[in-house]
Amino acid sequence: MSPSFSCMRTRVFGLALSIATACACLAQQPAPLIIDVEHRSTISLNGSWHAIVDPYDTGLKDYRSHIRSQDGFFRNAKPQTPQDLIEYDFDKSETLKVPGDWNTQRPSLLFYEGTVWYEKSFPYHPKPHTRVFLHLGAANYFSIAGVNGTVVCDHEGGFTSFNCEVTSLLHEGENFVVVYVNNTRKAEGVPTLSTDWWNYGGLTRDVQLVEVPERFIQDSFIHLIPGTQDQVAGWVKLSDAAADQRVTVQIPELAIERSVTTDRTGMAEFSVSDKRLQLWSPDHPKLYKFEIESGSDASKDKIEDEIGFRSIEVRGHEVLLNGAPIFLRGVSIHEEAPYRSGRANSEDDAKTLLGWAKELGANFVRLAHYPHNEHMLRMADRMGLMVWSEIPVYWDIRWDNPATLANAENQLTENITRDKNRASIAIWSVGNETPVTDARTKFMQSLVKTARALDSTRLLSAALQVQHRDGTTRMIDDPLGADLDVLGCNEYIGWYEGKPEDADKANWKSPYDKPLIMSEFGGSALSGLHGNSDARFTEEYQEDLYKHQVAMLDRIPFLRGTSPWILMDFRSPRRLLPGIQDYYNRKGLVSDQGEKKKVFYVLQKWYQQKQTQEHSSQ
Ligand code: GCU
Repeated sequence: MSPSFSCMRTRVFGLALSIATACACLAQQPAPLIIDVEHRSTISLNGSWHAIVDPYDTGLKDYRSHIRSQDGFFRNAKPQTPQDLIEYDFDKSETLKVPGDWNTQRPSLLFYEGTVWYEKSFPYHPKPHTRVFLHLGAANYFSIAGVNGTVVCDHEGGFTSFNCEVTSLLHEGENFVVVYVNNTRKAEGVPTLSTDWWNYGGLTRDVQLVEVPERFIQDSFIHLIPGTQDQVAGWVKLSDAAADQRVTVQIPELAIERSVTTDRTGMAEFSVSDKRLQLWSPDHPKLYKFEIESGSDASKDKIEDEIGFRSIEVRGHEVLLNGAPIFLRGVSIHEEAPYRSGRANSEDDAKTLLGWAKELGANFVRLAHYPHNEHMLRMADRMGLMVWSEIPVYWDIRWDNPATLANAENQLTENITRDKNRASIAIWSVGNETPVTDARTKFMQSLVKTARALDSTRLLSAALQVQHRDGTTRMIDDPLGADLDVLGCNEYIGWYEGKPEDADKANWKSPYDKPLIMSEFGGSALSGLHGNSDARFTEEYQEDLYKHQVAMLDRIPFLRGTSPWILMDFRSPRRLLPGIQDYYNRKGLVSDQGEKKKVFYVLQKWYQQKQTQEHSSQ
């Protein structure tokens, strides 16, 4: 029986705790995540929202820091008489676009970290036998949502979707939603205080109302059985524990139809096999329309999705896609919008970023360091790019804090719940550059265990660092390596460490008989800055560094993939060099304005060689 996907979480955000203790009615967990929202009946709430910038949380707490459970901004109150004292007014407040971070929408908010209140009014017409959920693609970092004056749920974590039931709160005519969003960094948060990416705050992804029948298809998992070429298995979970409910799954293109019934937990498992099944791969990103139907009459539900079938496994040093060895020609990507900066959030953004990756000759992308928006994954499915998906367990977080672990577990669970039917996703990564301590390794091992319990069909990895050097030999012997399927390693020979030519003498070893993905390497260059190849920040320096890198990488016997840092320059609060960085990390192969740097062609050429080698060995 497949595991339950209900969120395991405990509140770490001081605020949530004080809310929970102050007035239980203010803090509630989101409902179990509804999958495949893309193909459901939805009402978009995207567009302009009124916004109140509230640096002192005045809309939530009084001057004694007590929660304003009766007169907080969730009420969206208006003075009823001239004597009434109401010191806010959403209607008269400026607007912000949703989806979108607030930082790049107003110069005054570029560096702003704190609270912003969002309000949107919308007409609604309740329908019989219909439940309604408020669905948020992401809200960075901590958010509380309320509808028509009642708080419906709160959520921690800025990069995963969540939804809350609002059926009983909606009424005929004008309704309103208020969302409190706070992106204050916290030591016990995930991520923690320091990151090399901009802490974009806000309702950064699509917000919509999702309409479903009284009993609906809550979740499903469909996949090729690893090690087979033609056997598909999966399960469907209904929104309540209703037994003996008929569920039908179909692949119309193959005239496949299978009917099963739910057990007493509302779960139904199925399997089908068909020799005609075409498998998904980067060269042939075949997707099938997949339909699931359940129930009848008022509780009849039907969803469809585009599903690719492929298996991904390891055997010794090999990564096997559909049973055949593959080299993952990749690049790392931040969810930074091309040209306009800020959080990427649209299909067009995904097309542009993944289009550049394809131009590089990539068949793989590392989406760093947090789950990206769903448009990216669906585009990767369609374009034929395998994906490394990661949660923001980044650098040194509070390993010994149980609430921090629960938070990380929750983000991992939400990530896998949303994306497990995406053929493109090959690897779940549980973190990046985390220091080797017992508490950390125990923390990471717990995440690995959770991921394996949720999805046994994909590979587990993490971006590790070199722990020991023996002369010119670098050892990848992080103890966490024992728990992973694929070793990821970040190295910066020629940038943070020594000179580019030092790579020529570098050797790599690992005690683990596992494939290695060099998950980061690279150096910075300002697009258009030219000079000698030993002058940092010039395109020539970056180009030279990569030439030494690819020669070194070719000499690593257990290397099966690379995702250099990084596809495109991105905003970072740690990059302060005037005239060069100006709050941008310039390690991109492409500038934030889409200009390809010389290094782009070094990597493109190397990936062409890799592709030719692979085809000739098949
Ligand atoms: C680190 C880290 C990245 C960072 C990069 C850099 O390894 O994982 O998030 O941006 O190095 O320093 O440019």
